[in-house]
Amino acid sequence: MPDSTPHKRAAALRELLDRYNEEYHVRDAPTVSDAEYDALIRELRALENAHPDLRTPDSPTQRVGAKPSEGFLPHEHSVPMLSLGNAFGADELRAWHTRLTRQLDGEPNAYTAELKIDGLAVSLRYRDGVFESGATRGDGVVGEDVTPNLRTVRSIPLRLRVPHEGVLEVRGEVYMRRSDFDRLNESRVAQGEPPFANPRNSAAGSLRQLDPAMTAQRPLRFFAYGIGANQPALRATTQWDLLAALDGFGFPVNKEARRFASFDEVVAFCDEWEGKRSTLDYGTDGVVVKVDSLAQQRDLGAVGREPRWAVAFKYPPEEVTTTLRSIEVNVGRTGSVNPYAVLEPVQVGGVMVSMATLHNEDYIHAKDIREGDVVTVRRAGEVIPEIVGPLVAARKGKQLPVYHLPARCPVCGTPVQRAEGEAMAYCPNAVCPAQIIERLAHFASRGAMDIEGLGYRSAISFVEAGFVNDVGDIYSLTADRLLTLPRTGEKSAANLVAAIERSKARPFARVLYALGIRFVGFQTAQLLADAVSDIDALASMSAQELQATEQIGPSIAESVVSFFAQPANRAIVEKLRTAGVTLRGQPRPRTATDGPLVGKTLVLTGTLPSLSREEATALITSAGGKVAGSVSKKTDYVVAGEAAGTKLSKAESLGVPVIDEGALRKLVERA
Ligand code: IVH
Repeated sequence: MPDSTPHKRAAALRELLDRYNEEYHVRDAPTVSDAEYDALIRELRALENAHPDLRTPDSPTQRVGAKPSEGFLPHEHSVPMLSLGNAFGADELRAWHTRLTRQLDGEPNAYTAELKIDGLAVSLRYRDGVFESGATRGDGVVGEDVTPNLRTVRSIPLRLRVPHEGVLEVRGEVYMRRSDFDRLNESRVAQGEPPFANPRNSAAGSLRQLDPAMTAQRPLRFFAYGIGANQPALRATTQWDLLAALDGFGFPVNKEARRFASFDEVVAFCDEWEGKRSTLDYGTDGVVVKVDSLAQQRDLGAVGREPRWAVAFKYPPEEVTTTLRSIEVNVGRTGSVNPYAVLEPVQVGGVMVSMATLHNEDYIHAKDIREGDVVTVRRAGEVIPEIVGPLVAARKGKQLPVYHLPARCPVCGTPVQRAEGEAMAYCPNAVCPAQIIERLAHFASRGAMDIEGLGYRSAISFVEAGFVNDVGDIYSLTADRLLTLPRTGEKSAANLVAAIERSKARPFARVLYALGIRFVGFQTAQLLADAVSDIDALASMSAQELQATEQIGPSIAESVVSFFAQPANRAIVEKLRTAGVTLRGQPRPRTATDGPLVGKTLVLTGTLPSLSREEATALITSAGGKVAGSVSKKTDYVVAGEAAGTKLSKAESLGVPVIDEGALRKLVERA
């Protein structure tokens, strides 16, 4: 039942809406549906429309609605927003620590270590607990007043959860999550707008929109990490308490922050996050290490704009900008035409990068990447470098044509094909030298046939010399022929021939993998090898039969069928067979579904006169029977040989029939 007076009802609604907002945007733990929230905000809006005097500046209805402005007014920070000195690497971090220890005449009591969020710093001013104004950092002394825009950021409370009579300035970072950024860029591209280069630029651009309605549509978030003016002064005595107080006021505080008593732990924290930061959904460019005690912070003071009590431990950037010199393509083993970027070499994530994958033509168009662009390159952890996007603003009047994949295979000149609905384009020429080389290199690679000495370079020379047209031809290479190639000595020729010889003994699963059948990776090859007796059995299976095999889906099945349907591939199999390559597996013993022993369980004990344990097991399972390890009432027969042990006596006590090898053979042959 709504409260009796509009005034009371409005107050109750605001309180509810504030709570739900905080649960959703600050704590990531909503307790009501979006629909319920929307219904309440509609009710409040209607109330405020009917009674305009009820409309307070901290009302949840006031997040959006301010009119576009002509520009931002300067905002002078009453307490300057300091910047931080940098420490690159553990040595510089320790040097910082040594300096302040000397100045304090001893070690600080404790430290906080906070992830350095890669966004933009803002200062939020609350008067009597109500959000009053907010500004960007600017040069630290004067920033820009972006109050209406900050109001739209849902994780910034419009009213503090704990009352604070007087002034409180809260400082922190406005940022955008990577996932939100990706989604935003996708929709921008879909609407024909240029994508943003990275989450940071996107957050900065969004916060500086003249129309707050635009900012409201951008997924901005906030983390609080400090305070500016505070009157009456907050009671916190440490940075750690301060973070707890900010949390209590209803601000999002990054949950990875830690307090450490020893400096070694701080160093370990920095180290740990270097590897882990790429797993976060927001960008970080380091760790901010702070002396925990606010009294010790005061003692240490600042040099210019940089406090002595804090330092930014910086990671090598995972994202940098560079020039995209050109887009080239290579042709893969399946004939896929793969575009890649040739970059002005740059250091990113600690390594030199001069190439980045571009996946396919649609990817290039979606990101609007053009040759000659300045692009953002990203490399997170061990991930292959990729292009995040172009800096469209850097094009300035340059005419950069939209990229198109070449119409013909750059290696053999065959027209490139792209099937309806497929992302990749292919060179359909199965004997395209580029494909042959890729297939050879794959065939000879480590996890496949492991032919030492057969890498890309030799693959190219074999194809160029006309010695090899497919992987089957590898086995007709002789030392004499190899010696006719440039830069090939007796020793290396002999070594290669020996390595090729050794490869014939690789297990069947590896041969299947080495053939490079589309979608057949190492795991799948193993599954297939387990399922069939030999390659001929596999080659004669229908897609339906293949799909009956565990974990084999329609794409793999189709791919296997189409591989063996091609005469060229059947010819390869024949070459491998002639060479003596392993083309049959050791199928795991499988229970036959018919035979004289179907439904029967047998137990083996002792040494049989002519059958090994494995042979006896194979004999039983091929007749449809099962072999169990121990005797029970459910056992149908115990097959006993020389020196049978407790299983025999157990069988006798349970009345289970005991037979010898001869009787077993008779049972099986009865069929
Ligand atoms: S403290 C005096 N804590 O880093 C201390 N800054 O280079 C002032 N930043 O402008 C900043 N995360 O934009 C602090 N947990 C954190 C931070 C952080 C990101 C940014 C902030 C500041 C810049 C300093």
